[in-house]
Amino acid sequence: MFVVVPTLIAISVFCVGSWAVSGSHTSANSPAPYRLLTPLLDTPWTAKVGTLPWPQHPRPLLYRDHWQTLNGIWTALSGIMVNGVTYMWFATTFTTPSGWPTGQRLLLNFEAVDYEATVFVNGAQVGFNRGGYFRFTVDITDNVNPDGENALLVFVFDPTDSSPYHIPNGKQTTSPSHIFYTPCTGIWQPVWLESAPSSYITSMNFAADMEGTVTATIHSGTGGSNPVEISILDDDGSVVSTQSAVSDETFTFTVPSPKLWSPDSPNLYNITVKMGADNVSSYTGFRTISSGTVNGIQRPLLNGKFVFQFGTLDQGYWPDGIYLPPTLEAMVYDLGLLKGLGMNMVRKHIKVEPDLFYQACDRLGLLVIQDMPCMPATVSMETSPPDAAEQAEFERQIEVLINEHKSYPSIVTWVIYNEGWGQLREASHPEFPITTRIRELDPTRLIDATTGWFDHGAGDFSDNHHYAEPQCGTPFYSTPSSPYDPNRIGLQGEFGGIGHIPAAENLWPVQAAIDTINQTYEINSDLDSYNYRAHVLLGLLRDQVARFACSGAVWTQTTDVEGEVNGLVTYDRRFVRVDAIQWKADIQALYAAAGARA
Ligand SMILES: *[C@@H]1O[C@H](CO)[C@@H](O)[C@H](O)[C@H]1NC(C)=O
Ligand SMILES: *[C@@H]1O[C@H](CO)[C@@H](O)[C@H](O)[C@H]1NC(C)=O
Ligand SMILES: *[C@@H]1O[C@H](CO)[C@@H](O)[C@H](O)[C@H]1NC(C)=O
Repeated sequence: MFVVVPTLIAISVFCVGSWAVSGSHTSANSPAPYRLLTPLLDTPWTAKVGTLPWPQHPRPLLYRDHWQTLNGIWTALSGIMVNGVTYMWFATTFTTPSGWPTGQRLLLNFEAVDYEATVFVNGAQVGFNRGGYFRFTVDITDNVNPDGENALLVFVFDPTDSSPYHIPNGKQTTSPSHIFYTPCTGIWQPVWLESAPSSYITSMNFAADMEGTVTATIHSGTGGSNPVEISILDDDGSVVSTQSAVSDETFTFTVPSPKLWSPDSPNLYNITVKMGADNVSSYTGFRTISSGTVNGIQRPLLNGKFVFQFGTLDQGYWPDGIYLPPTLEAMVYDLGLLKGLGMNMVRKHIKVEPDLFYQACDRLGLLVIQDMPCMPATVSMETSPPDAAEQAEFERQIEVLINEHKSYPSIVTWVIYNEGWGQLREASHPEFPITTRIRELDPTRLIDATTGWFDHGAGDFSDNHHYAEPQCGTPFYSTPSSPYDPNRIGLQGEFGGIGHIPAAENLWPVQAAIDTINQTYEINSDLDSYNYRAHVLLGLLRDQVARFACSGAVWTQTTDVEGEVNGLVTYDRRFVRVDAIQWKADIQALYAAAGARA
C-alpha cells in the first residue's frame, strides 16, 4: 500500500536524503502542495535553485534544436524523503511543445536515475534502465497524445548498499559514517524531451589528436549506412574541414595544424553533423594522451610532452543537493577554485557527474581522472564478494561509462578500482580483462586499473595511496600499497587529507557525522597549522618529483563532506581554508621540479 507524500523536491536537484523529510503525510490520493524544505546546511546557491532547476541543455556533445526540460516540481509517491526506502514513484505531466515540427519522433531523455527506473507514459511501460549514473533515451512517439496532457510515471528501485546487493554506487551508504555519505535516490539529473526526425543520430564519438587526425563514429538508430556530413569549425565560426562519410562506421580525416587542447590553452572546435533531415552540433579538442619514457622514467604525456598532473580528489557532494550541485554556477565554482590555485587536474572520485561538468573541464582546461563508481566498499570482500552476475553488471556499466564519456577531451585516464573496493582479489584478477576491454573501447586514454592498495600489475599506473605523506614513485611504501613499479607511471592517487574542524555554521549538523570527525587523517586546530602542514606535504611531494619517479598527485580533497573535514573549502563552500598565495607557489614548485626532469 502506498502512502502519498507531498511533492517536496525540485526534481533533478535535491536528491533524496534523510534531511529532506517533510513529515506531513496526507491520506488522500492526491499529494499535498509543493513546499520548499530547508537543507540542514545550505550553500551560497541554494536560494537560487527556484522551481526550475538546471534549465540548461544537458547534453553538450549532441545538441539538437528542439528540446524542452521536464525538470521542475514532480509528484513523488510512497515514502521518498525517508532514508532507507528502496522503492518509489515519481510522476509529472507534460504536453508536447507547440511549434515543434510535425511528423518527428519524440524522445524522452533521462540523464541519470539511481538505480533502476521503469518508465510509463499514459499507463504504458515504455522503458527500463539499470545503472545510477548513465543516460537513457526512450522513443515515446507512439505513446503520447500530441494535443493534450500526458502522464509520465517513473518507478524506481534503489537498494544503495543494503545487503545482499552489490551495485555500483560509489560513496553512498544507508548508514553514513566518516568517508561514506548520505545516499542519493531516484531521478537526480535532468529529464527532457527532444524532437528528432524519423531517422536520427543516436550518439556520436569523436577523438581528435595532436596530428589533427579526427576519428569519428556517428551512430544511427537504424544501423544502416546513412550518408553523413561533418564540419569542424574554428572559434570564429568558419569551417576548417568538411567530411562526407556514412553512419555506423568509424572513419578518420585530418584537420591541418589545429590549435591543440591543453590545460594552459583549452582550445575547442565546434562540430556540426548532418544525417538526412537530422542536424546536430558537438565539439572536440585536439590532444594526444600517451605513456612514454622521458630520461629513463615512464611518464604520462600530453601532446608528446611530460605534463605533471596535480589536482584534488573530488567527491562531488553537496549539502543541499547531495549528488547534484544546486546550480551550474555552484559546480563551476569548485572547478574554478582548483584552477585558480594552479591545479591542472581533478580526480572525479567513484562518481559520474552531469555532462556539463566535463564540458566545464574542457573549457577551463582541467585534466580529468575518471573513476568507475565502485560496488559497496563497506562489504567485506572476504565474506560477501560480488557474485558472477553482479560482477558482469559492474563490467557492463564500465563500458557504458566509457562509451558515454569518451568524447570529452578533458578526460585523460579511466580508473577501474579504488583501494580494493568491490575488487575481486583471487588470481585471475578481473582488472586485467577489464583493462583489455577498455583499451578496445577507447585506445586514446590511459588506464589506472587499481588506484591504491591491491595492484597486480595491470594498467598504465603504479598508484600509491598514503596519508598524510606522499610515497609517489618511491621505493619506500606502506602496505597494502606496493613499491613503485618502474615499468609504469608513478602516481600518488591520494595523499594529504589533513583536516581542520570548521565553525559550527559551516559543518554538516548531523551528530553521527560529527562523531566521526576525529577519524580524519590529521586534525589541525587552526588554519595556520593547516596551511603549514600543507606546505610541508607539498614540499615532500616536490622532493619526490625531483628525486624519484613521481608523475602526478591527487590531494584529498576539494571540499569537506559531511563528517570528513579535510577540504580546501568547507562543505557549504562558504569558508576557504587554503592560503592561496602559499598554495600557488607550492604547486608551481611541483611543475618546476617536474620540468627539470623532462
Ligand atoms: C561553439 O558553439 C557554442 C554553442 O553554439 C557557442 O556558444 C560557442 O561560442 C562556439 N564555440 C566556438 C569555439 O566556436
Ligand atoms: C540545423 O540546421 C539549421 C538550418 O541550417 C540551423 O539553423 C541550425 O542551427 C542547425 N542546428 C544545429 C543544432 O546545428
Ligand atoms: C575528538 O578529539 C578531541 C581531542 O581529543 C576531543 O576533545 C573531542 O571530544 C573528540 N570528539 C569526538 C566526537 O570524539
